[in-house]
Amino acid sequence: MKELKSYLEANKQRFLDELLELLRIPSVSADPKYAGDVRRMAEATANHLKAVGVDKVEVCDTAGHPIVYGEKMVDAKAPTILVYGHYDVQPADPLDLWDSPPFEPVVKKTKNHPEGAIFARGACDDKGQVFMHVKAFEMMSKTNNLPCNVKFMIEGEEEVGSKHLEKFCLENKKKLACDVVLISDTSIIDNNTPSITVGLRGLCYMEVEVVGPNKDLHSGVYGGAVANPINVLCQMIASLHDAKKRVTVKGFYDDVLKVSSKERKAMNAAPYNEKQYMKDLGVSELMGEKGYTSVERTGIRPTLDVNGIWGGYIGEGAKTVLPSKAFAKISMRLVPDQDPKKIEKMFQKHFEGLAPKSVKVKVTAHHGGYPVVVPTNSVEYKASEKALEQAFGKKPLPQRGGGSIPIVAMFDQVLNAKSVLMGFGLDSDDIHSPNEHYGLFNYYKGIETIPWFYKFYSEMKKK
Ligand code: BES
Ligand code: MN
Ligand code: MN
Repeated sequence: MKELKSYLEANKQRFLDELLELLRIPSVSADPKYAGDVRRMAEATANHLKAVGVDKVEVCDTAGHPIVYGEKMVDAKAPTILVYGHYDVQPADPLDLWDSPPFEPVVKKTKNHPEGAIFARGACDDKGQVFMHVKAFEMMSKTNNLPCNVKFMIEGEEEVGSKHLEKFCLENKKKLACDVVLISDTSIIDNNTPSITVGLRGLCYMEVEVVGPNKDLHSGVYGGAVANPINVLCQMIASLHDAKKRVTVKGFYDDVLKVSSKERKAMNAAPYNEKQYMKDLGVSELMGEKGYTSVERTGIRPTLDVNGIWGGYIGEGAKTVLPSKAFAKISMRLVPDQDPKKIEKMFQKHFEGLAPKSVKVKVTAHHGGYPVVVPTNSVEYKASEKALEQAFGKKPLPQRGGGSIPIVAMFDQVLNAKSVLMGFGLDSDDIHSPNEHYGLFNYYKGIETIPWFYKFYSEMKKK
């Protein structure tokens, strides 16, 4: 394993340059305008896999964006690791809030990344983290340190709900057969506090429409006598939380599993500087469910948030209007054992029930996903723990991630394989935001850690 470190040292600059090239491709999955770029990104990913010696590399078509597959089978008796990640990215807007263009990567130093960070959409989520696996494979392969079989499945629709991945997995169960799924698409606590994600929140994403009068009206002629759907919608939304900031949707907490006080204590013992957290976000107070800390509110508690709200006149100047319609996109983050399908129905019923007779309400569902918890007493966890300890010189802490990767629960069901969530980003890396970045330290540390996981997992799995 010694040769790995020197291989990394000798190839650091090239590893960076290759990633910067990939970050130039605007593979935004949500916007059909970029469909050509998304495909170009799939092909570029496939070419990199081929170049490092992965076999059977294909760009697999789906009804949506393609899935990149490849494998290297070295020994039928050795375990098989399936590396999952996504090459698609979130839209870059609003563009004017970026300090440099989102698809023209630059390296700059930041407070959390004194060694420099790569600024570009997708740098951390998830192109940079996927590419660590490609380069780690290259290192293991070139230095004869590949201890097990590897399969790569890199999709192009994660940011839009992985719509076609389940079908692909169902149709290719044999091809994807593996002992463990390895995913780098989450964070560590900070660069001195390595951690492994042991939970992800689920998601239930809804859209609501509130309709009042059958046309837009003069707000002077009619205002006061006819319900304004925007006013009504705001009231309905406001009532979705009570004074303790708990979600009021009937039945919402029914299936929430209690987290042991031991686990809560451990979560709260991890480094976290609330003052700095507020300062970084420019807020003078935090807010959330009574009785829980911020770490708990984002890790083990379910939430409800409005993602967007619109209606009426939002153009230049003022227009006096009582609009006919109002809309909002509302999402709920879920925790074990909440079921997104059940929550969807509860929300629909509850929200419709909130509407006064003066308006009509339409509730529709977007994508969702199940929450995940990862046991810490498994071979998978122990191997990742050992790998991070080896690379960071410190035992990693288990950490619950607040975000969602809906397909993780599906892997368990369809492929009968557990996932290891070994990500290397920081929560402050601004994923999905303007000025997304990924630390050079994190990129190289990830490349260094991955081969250790392969080694320890292969050894521990044999016993
Ligand atoms: N990589 C993120 C999820 C994530 C980030 C988990 C940080 C834990 C820590 C992923 O790409 C993502 O953004 N997922 C979406 C859900 C998806 C259905 C659009 C999310 O969490 O909003
Ligand atoms: Mn991601
Ligand atoms: Mn994302």
